[in-house]
Amino acid sequence: MWVPRWVLWLVGLGLVGGAYALYAVHRENRLLETEVKKLEHLLAERPVELATFMASYERFLTKLHAAGQAQNWALAAFYYEELEETAEQLEKLNLTDDGVPVSQMMRPNLLQPLEAVEKAIQAQEPRAFQEGLRVLVSHCNSCHAAAGKPYIQFTLPEKDAPPRQRFTP
Ligand code: HEC
Repeated sequence: MWVPRWVLWLVGLGLVGGAYALYAVHRENRLLETEVKKLEHLLAERPVELATFMASYERFLTKLHAAGQAQNWALAAFYYEELEETAEQLEKLNLTDDGVPVSQMMRPNLLQPLEAVEKAIQAQEPRAFQEGLRVLVSHCNSCHAAAGKPYIQFTLPEKDAPPRQRFTP
């Protein structure tokens, strides 16, 4: 069968192009593999410290409370978001602590109770805000108990006083 020369050229070019594309994909894969290895190494060297997350929850909770007390709703919304973001980060990490699935426990114990707080901020409702925080703090406490650390407890007095860790046994 006679095939025009330009068809042969075209097929040849197609083959070369395809081979190059394969090579490029392969090279890209190798690069990605090295990147993943680097990240894994970083994680192994610097394991996520749960207490560091908790320390920021405590700080954000205290500031969120103070902003709400002052009815500075824009500031309260800011701290609400910080708290939500850090909770979502911990949730995504898929972390267990001494066999306790802490990441899985974040949604029911923090992200869900936070929703009422968000609504209160949007509605600029001091009473609902206080109630939302009270429920939230009780969830912090029950998660600590469920995680085998019942001695980490917070109180939120009825009056304007800020949430506090309880140090008495
Ligand atoms: C998913 C369950 C869970 C939730 C929800 C949770 N915690 Fe914790 N928290 C823990 C665990 C587990 C530890 C122990 C960490 C460790 O062993 O290093 C801890 C430790 C702490 C500590 C001790 C570390 C320190 O800096 O003194 C504080 C404070 C704390 N949490 C505050 C809070 C506050 C405030 C909230 C709510 C806004 C909260 N936690 C919500 C599980 C939780």
